[in-house]
Amino acid sequence: MKVFCPMNNKGGTGKTTVSMIVAHDFALRGKRVLALDLDPQCNFSRRFLEMEIDPIDNNIIRPPKHSGIDPNDPTEEAFEPDEGEDGTEHSANIFIHGGTLPYPTSHKNIHVIPGHSELLLSVERVTEQKLHSVVLHQVKDCFKDPYFSENYDVAVIDTGPSKGPLTSAALEAATDIIIPTKMEEMSVEGLIGMLAFWEKTNILRPANKKVNLIGVLANMVKGTSGMHKHYFKSLSEEPNLGQYMLTQILHDWQGYAEGLIKDAKPMLFNRRKDKCATEAKELCDHIYSQMFT
Ligand SMILES: Nc1ncnc2c1ncn2[C@@H]1O[C@H](COP(=O)(O)OP(=O)(O)OP(=O)(O)O)[C@@H](O)[C@H]1O
Ligand SMILES: [Mg+2]
Repeated sequence: MKVFCPMNNKGGTGKTTVSMIVAHDFALRGKRVLALDLDPQCNFSRRFLEMEIDPIDNNIIRPPKHSGIDPNDPTEEAFEPDEGEDGTEHSANIFIHGGTLPYPTSHKNIHVIPGHSELLLSVERVTEQKLHSVVLHQVKDCFKDPYFSENYDVAVIDTGPSKGPLTSAALEAATDIIIPTKMEEMSVEGLIGMLAFWEKTNILRPANKKVNLIGVLANMVKGTSGMHKHYFKSLSEEPNLGQYMLTQILHDWQGYAEGLIKDAKPMLFNRRKDKCATEAKELCDHIYSQMFT
């Protein structure tokens, strides 16, 4: 199973947007997609499921109860949750129980493992020692289970704005990553830090298991902004970074924000003449060719 993951410890750079676009593109190409949300903000989950927000503490976001029916084998009888469990399935269970059951979505080729804000935050707070001895390997190990490797062609993991344990575990499981970034107020040091994060993982991997960096994606680029053009040009000329800058870029279009609304049609790919759809498709074509050809 291939594992695609956008990452950047800076917030609001387009990780969830890229996760959404790419998950839909893979699904439209007939790939069986597992959407996995490892961000305690649960934005990726909300795109697919009606998440429950705690009435007292709005920061606590949980998935709805799972029907207990396996989306990969709906003919099987539904399981009953264990006593004391609340009947929800979520990504934190990967770290707590070593696995979890995905939910079906309105897209037949996409199943989702949503987040659970409180429990994911408790994973994010593990000690350095526990990170290295346990947490780091848990997503990768979970995906080795035949249930996942046989039922899905590709996982798309959305990560939060951090280089903490959850993103580290995502990187450990990833086969291909992309680093979306804005072209303003941007620190080159931040991107260099992300590259170092990626390179550190690769040092420990055998030659045939290296994580492929698809590239650094300039996102929310304003066509008329001289500043954005200036940043893009200077990043492309930066000695350690230039080689990774993707020529495919995403401009600042309302259409991307609309694509994050729950159950929105994958409109990006329907309006062939729409510039926003065209450039998203160009990016997806590039990602697909890097991962599957
Ligand atoms: N190319 C774009 N054009 C217009 N709006 C965009 C574009 N990319 C992302 N956005 C919007 O910018 C906001 C931040 O994007 P997104 O949520 O994808 O970032 P993120 O990196 O996942 O953020 P976080 O770090 O908080 O998880 C969202 O409201 C999204 O709809
Ligand atoms: Mg996000």
